[in-house]
Amino acid sequence: MPATRRRKKLEDLGAVAAGLAHEIRNPLNSLYINGQLLEEMLSEISPEAVPQKGELLSLARANLKVTQRLNETLSGFLRFARPQAIELTMVDLNRIVAETLRFLEVDLSYHGIVLRTRIHPTPLPVLADERQLKQALLNLLLNAQEALDKEGKTIRVTTGVRAGRPFARIQDNGRGIPRAERRQIFRLFYTTRKNGSGLGLPIVRQIVHQHGGTVSLRSREGHGTIVTVSLPFESQFRAMFPGRLPLALPPGAPR
Ligand SMILES: Nc1ncnc2c1ncn2[C@@H]1O[C@H](COP(=O)(O)OP(=O)(O)O)[C@@H](O)[C@H]1O
Ligand SMILES: [Mg+2]
Repeated sequence: MPATRRRKKLEDLGAVAAGLAHEIRNPLNSLYINGQLLEEMLSEISPEAVPQKGELLSLARANLKVTQRLNETLSGFLRFARPQAIELTMVDLNRIVAETLRFLEVDLSYHGIVLRTRIHPTPLPVLADERQLKQALLNLLLNAQEALDKEGKTIRVTTGVRAGRPFARIQDNGRGIPRAERRQIFRLFYTTRKNGSGLGLPIVRQIVHQHGGTVSLRSREGHGTIVTVSLPFESQFRAMFPGRLPLALPPGAPR
């Protein structure tokens, strides 16, 4: 099939899948609400009247959990299939990275994970949707955290400039990714984790591409993984997308 037709077909399929996911949402919500009611009613029944009360309750709770998980998968998929319009403002990549880390710091140290950061000494002005860029970095940091499987758990985060472009890099010394898996990991729903959704990396890639950037990954099985997000400088972005001016531009230096 020629590339353009293939692309069109994929787009159509994406639209159908998104429509379907949307249709499933309401009945799923009803299932969840009914499940909660059922659980409430069951917990009020006396065990004398219904000797199987315990079993019934744990079944009802298991169903609630499954419904919740389905809902999360669906929400993640819809976020991917119908990406929100990005709102670009001039920001400092250093600050975005630092603030994303602040959000995770307590959790990391609680899990005995050492965080080493090396932030570029001068601001790295990029045009970005702050919330979405933080989401992408958070997805990468969570993956790094989940990959750590042996003592000496360390995550290194670096920002800098390479080949004339600002970047943020997240390195873990976890399980690494076997060569055969490497081609799969950006696929929608691909996961090797028991409670994974397989949405993290596809969303990262989507967000970074919307910013005119690239995601690259290096990994050694058993040793760890390095993921680098490169973005264009604000000036480079303007040259790439002359029509897409920032919607709001804070005065002065990048925030
Ligand atoms: N830093 C990492 N180290 C090892 N494996 C990784 C790393 N990041 C991603 N992966 C692999 O890629 C898969 C897909 O990641 P992702 O799209 O975020 O989905 P999820 O985290 O829900 O599994 C993971 O299940 C894991 O096998
Ligand atoms: Mg993930």
